[in-house]
Amino acid sequence: MSTTSTVPATGRTVVPESVGQARRRRSFAVISHPDAGKSTITEALALHAKVLNRAGAVHGKDGRGGTVSDWMDIERERGISITSAALQFTYRDAVINLVDTPGHADFSEDTYRVLSAVDAAVMLVDAAKGLEVQTMKLFEVCKHRNIPIITVINKWDRPGKEALDLMDEIHERTGLQPAPLNWPVGVAGDFRGVLDMATGDYLKFTRTDGGATVAPEDHLSAEEAEGLEGGAWLRAVEESDLIVATGAGHDPEGFLAATSTPVMFGSAVLNFGVRFLLDTLVDLAPAPGARPDADGRPREIDSPFSAFVFKVQAGMDVAHRDRLAFVRVCSGTFERGMVVTHSGTNRPFATKYAQQVMGRERTSIDRAFPGDVVGLVNANALRVGDTLYVERPVTFPPIPSFSPEHFAVARAKDSSRYKQFRRGIEQLDHEGVVQVLRSDLRGDQAPVLAAVGPMQFEVAEHRMAGEFNSPISLDRLGYSLARRTDADGRDRLRGQRAVEVLSRSDGVLLAVFSDRWRLQSVERGLADILLAPLVVSM
Ligand code: G4P
Repeated sequence: MSTTSTVPATGRTVVPESVGQARRRRSFAVISHPDAGKSTITEALALHAKVLNRAGAVHGKDGRGGTVSDWMDIERERGISITSAALQFTYRDAVINLVDTPGHADFSEDTYRVLSAVDAAVMLVDAAKGLEVQTMKLFEVCKHRNIPIITVINKWDRPGKEALDLMDEIHERTGLQPAPLNWPVGVAGDFRGVLDMATGDYLKFTRTDGGATVAPEDHLSAEEAEGLEGGAWLRAVEESDLIVATGAGHDPEGFLAATSTPVMFGSAVLNFGVRFLLDTLVDLAPAPGARPDADGRPREIDSPFSAFVFKVQAGMDVAHRDRLAFVRVCSGTFERGMVVTHSGTNRPFATKYAQQVMGRERTSIDRAFPGDVVGLVNANALRVGDTLYVERPVTFPPIPSFSPEHFAVARAKDSSRYKQFRRGIEQLDHEGVVQVLRSDLRGDQAPVLAAVGPMQFEVAEHRMAGEFNSPISLDRLGYSLARRTDADGRDRLRGQRAVEVLSRSDGVLLAVFSDRWRLQSVERGLADILLAPLVVSM
């Protein structure tokens, strides 16, 4: 389907509203190691977009209020964010959707789902620490999805590594060609401003009290900059010339193909470089485009409404204990109250309660466009990966699950609360908090919970006790690897030591193994019964 049509009488081109609105959208997520400054930069972005008057209202560790997504005690205790929300704001003429990702690599699977809802990612790097473990893991997730990445070197106001060394590190560890858009004036710890690589001009930053307001920026010519900053400016010019000489200039095609990453320097806490990031998102990051369906045919953005569920979250509001399904709009226009079809069941689904969720704040959404995130309240039938549409049917490819590496048998501590236990386990399964595996041998009272990272178990335990009133005990099993198999495989593996076949609620059969030697021995002897590995092992 074309995205424009021509009105014969006037020859004017009419752009459908969904297309015009989609072009304005920039949907992205921030990936980083904990403490690199994700919450601070989220707050700073929102501040620049004038959502907030003073920084501190969204962010909130250490008594600074509530973070963007700190519904759960466990998040507060650990200072991590497990649940996710989307922050929407306008900047220039663009509508920015910042989708929150879990900060911890144990929730990579969750991150993977969230990243299916964005068109770009910002990789936030601590200038002193460089690329940390979890940044790398989350980067791998992005790479797997071919998501264009913008790199922000944060905390330049503090002593840190050399800028050129950081470029080498990015290149060596990610394989992406770093393409700096600006270059710092002043070494790490003495941040004065940046040299704009596109114009050669100087963008001088001025500190404000505690960084709590938008930092003033002055645009100066190279001559003025040299007069003002002397050696610090000359060094920036020399280093940026070196970068240009190696051919590491901005490469728009490489960025969109996820082979090159634009890089910029900033300090989230001082609000330095935040406007530059916003401008980069608007100018360079891709707007939503056609999304391929399960058969690979693109669903154009001006097609009738379609969306897919990338996150299901219950218990976000302690007072209501309701369940939200977050969908990303892929085509057409969403209007609250519209009746859509749920592709899994072919049943109609009424969208009376549609919300935007930002921390504890929820506001009703009346209309949404491709790239937007809508929270559908009490969407009990919806599961992660499901598609919703109107008129022309479409099913988007399922969001693949990760290969679990940790396994534990769950049992209700109080067997008289079996009903609550069942309900809770089912809910956690629907949300994808853990994968729930069963077998005839183990029975329904003792399902196996499978996770990519052990912290998922903590969340499961915590929620079973607090939300479903059914505390559980978890007995760890000695398995560490899983492969798909089929009914034949189940029969032939029966009775083998340190191997077990369990079934997932979507019907997939998983053969689980204690270690890679056991797996390799099965692969050698019974290769035909093991199907493709389950996506990535992180
Ligand atoms: P996270 O969400 O990625 O985990 O990180 P968060 O924003 O909470 O930031 C972690 C710490 O790093 C915070 O300090 C924060 O103030 C600080 N920080 C973030 N960006 C910058 C920056 O650009 N420069 C400097 N110098 N610090 C930065 P904290 O000590 O944990 O909290 P606070 O008491 O300082 O608020």
